[in-house]
Amino acid sequence: MKVITAKSAGFCFGVKKAVETVYNEIEKGGRIYTYGEIIHNELVVEDLEKKGVTVLNSREELEKVTEGTVIIRSHGVSKDIYELLEEKKGIRVVDATCPFVLKIHKIVSEESKKGRHIIIVGSSDHPEVKGIIGFSGDSVRCIQTEDEAEEYVPESGKCVSVVAQTTFNLHKFNNIVEILKKKCYDVHTVNTICNATEQRQTEALEIASRADAMIVIGGKNSSNTRKLYEICSERCADTRFIQTVDDLVNESLKGVKCIGITAGASTPNYIIEEVQKHVRGTDF
Ligand code: F3S
Repeated sequence: MKVITAKSAGFCFGVKKAVETVYNEIEKGGRIYTYGEIIHNELVVEDLEKKGVTVLNSREELEKVTEGTVIIRSHGVSKDIYELLEEKKGIRVVDATCPFVLKIHKIVSEESKKGRHIIIVGSSDHPEVKGIIGFSGDSVRCIQTEDEAEEYVPESGKCVSVVAQTTFNLHKFNNIVEILKKKCYDVHTVNTICNATEQRQTEALEIASRADAMIVIGGKNSSNTRKLYEICSERCADTRFIQTVDDLVNESLKGVKCIGITAGASTPNYIIEEVQKHVRGTDF
């Protein structure tokens, strides 16, 4: 059986950096917290919890912390969380926000200061977008679909600056920007989609077109993994979404001559390697 594993499968640069940061901090000792789960992968989060890391799930939980190290994950946080952390003198802060997300914070904060209205193309419930909203002034709006863009009523006389959630679909982003350009007077667009996502999706699509079966590995809650699964399913009818190699144990790969493997941004390398080994039969 031919096995093709996507080169872009697994941790992106920002996630890798954030996860490594937590493991490095564990080595140093002391009480360690992450503000939110460091990545959307239960196995990694469980391993960190076993090593003594506590996940803070809300601002209220953070307010109760009086000592130790708080690590900010790659998605970033809003300005008010940084302000709260600054007030807490007994806490050491390690910021693992991805530099691409920090760049968006800078853009929206500067554009807001110029008096421009900010439009974030992305999902308003996503922690990354919540963080970006927190760096924009009062005049900010989140748009996720072409329909929402069509319904959007611009404030008269207000210039608009548009950015995107780093993992947003490029095609959809371009459509939304086109709609906004027709409605608003002065639109300044910065495409802030991270190319790690685009590369991963393009490569997955290309492999899925050649493979008889496709395996997509990632956490249940990982939206970028679900998106990869959807993309691969469009080209390869036999696409399977798994979390670990255990999900493959009772699966038959009979008659499959070429199998493709890809994984979401929060899937550790060792899980991808276990799956590769399993499909190659070396593990039987
Ligand atoms: Fe950063 Fe892009 Fe990953 S924004 S966290 S490198 S998907």
